[in-house]
Amino acid sequence: MAWTPTAVILFCVWTFTECTETQVVCTFSEDCVLQCSFKAAGEEVIHWTFTHKEDPVHTYYLDADHLEHQDQRFKGRTSLFNDLIRAGNASLRLRNSNIQDIGRYHCYTSTNNGSQESWVNVEVHAPIQSVGIEMMGDEVSCSSQGIYPAPRVSWITDPPTQSDMLKDSTQTSADPRGLYSVQSRVRILGNISDHTYVCSVTSADGTQEWTTSLRQQEINSVNEGSTIIPCIALRTFNLHNFTLTWAFIRENKSEVILTFDSLTKQTVGHGTSQAKVDPDQVLSGNGSLWLQNTAQAGTYTCSFSAFQIQHLVHTHVKLTPARKKESGGNRSRLGVILPVIAVLVLLITGMIMYARRRDKRSPPNRTTEDAAEMEPMRRDSDSSHTEDNRQQD
Ligand SMILES: *[C@@H]1O[C@H](CO)[C@@H](O)[C@H](O)[C@H]1NC(C)=O
Ligand SMILES: *[C@@H]1O[C@H](CO)[C@@H](O)[C@H](O)[C@H]1NC(C)=O
Ligand SMILES: *[C@@H]1O[C@H](CO)[C@@H](O)[C@H](O)[C@H]1NC(C)=O
Ligand SMILES: *[C@@H]1O[C@H](CO)[C@@H](O)[C@H](O)[C@H]1NC(C)=O
Ligand SMILES: *[C@@H]1O[C@H](CO)[C@@H](O)[C@H](O)[C@H]1NC(C)=O
Ligand SMILES: *[C@@H]1O[C@H](CO)[C@@H](O)[C@H](O)[C@H]1NC(C)=O
Repeated sequence: MAWTPTAVILFCVWTFTECTETQVVCTFSEDCVLQCSFKAAGEEVIHWTFTHKEDPVHTYYLDADHLEHQDQRFKGRTSLFNDLIRAGNASLRLRNSNIQDIGRYHCYTSTNNGSQESWVNVEVHAPIQSVGIEMMGDEVSCSSQGIYPAPRVSWITDPPTQSDMLKDSTQTSADPRGLYSVQSRVRILGNISDHTYVCSVTSADGTQEWTTSLRQQEINSVNEGSTIIPCIALRTFNLHNFTLTWAFIRENKSEVILTFDSLTKQTVGHGTSQAKVDPDQVLSGNGSLWLQNTAQAGTYTCSFSAFQIQHLVHTHVKLTPARKKESGGNRSRLGVILPVIAVLVLLITGMIMYARRRDKRSPPNRTTEDAAEMEPMRRDSDSSHTEDNRQQD
């Protein structure tokens, strides 16, 4: 007979025994204690079974463990508190708990003075340990692994967007241990740098929520001189206990530039680069990095991380070609514009002088024709502008 909840209640009513049922939530891969107590009166017998199929879990009598009939899956994972049995403690310690351990357990005890029964309902939870977020083409992907029961995933953006704009597709799969992995993706809305994408993974019972957010931006850094790479924490970020980490991605590897700890207010630099953050600014949520020397072209990552929350900013730094080239560009533009203006001025002056001279001799209705003659000239100068623009592009 299987010990379903109804069966337990019927059994207790029928036998008039003192039945108790307790609940315990074990953490996956950790030890767990299934409580059971009784009134000790000598010659103790303790028999634990897993009510699924009455599988024997742990048996004790004649002052010793007797595990010959123990179900294989519990082998080497169970023990009683043998020193405490005389004091009426029949609790079972289950080591390295796993998803197959979930279910109802039966504790039977008997002494010289009769027997008692109780039940323990075991749940196993594998908490969320981390949440990752990344850009994948035109999508943002958020993922988390090794969770039980399956969690929920939700998205928002900053600044906010209507939720129907942000359609997510979430896939949940179980690994051989029975733990769940989730991967959820949303399509990028417009320009990538317009929004911060915020992903939250919430445990099934709502007791745990992990939030990870990602912002991707691009900046141009002028060669020579210092650069500031902006990184601002989300308004919702708790600024009491966090770490700020700056890194540079080189050949797919993240090289830490510096870390800042909000509790010690200390910055620890790594490597030789001349990089700084302003501690007062960081404590108010502005983690912008100041680079004394030229920034390197590539990706700088900024991470605000605290308990169950992380905010990431990925900045692609482009190097603007050196100033020399820029001023050269200006000069060549001036080189085209100046002669055009000079020619125009000369022509207009010439025409005005010509017109004046003619005004004195001929009838005034000729001036409209002169104005028409000027038209193609102006169009010429216009087209030289557009060509110049095209060259710049
Ligand atoms: C039995 O003893 C163990 C170890 O001290 C303790 O954790 C547990 O709570 C005890 N159980 C009962 C029912 O007294
Ligand atoms: C055995 O149980 C009876 C009543 O059920 C009780 O009076 C007695 O004290 C118990 N003996 C021991 C040794 O616990
Ligand atoms: C991004 O924004 C700029 C101006 O704000 C616009 O010119 C450009 O087309 C946008 N790009 C995309 C992919 O929407
Ligand atoms: C970096 O990773 C991408 C794909 O993840 C790969 O195509 C590329 O070859 C890697 N580059 C280096 C330098 O390892
Ligand atoms: C953030 O701090 C940097 C210096 O560390 C400063 O240049 C920048 O203006 C600040 N940004 C904001 C939005 O306060
Ligand atoms: C700060 O947060 C970490 C986890 O991120 C935690 O371990 C630590 O106890 C916290 N410290 C304080 C003083 O709250």
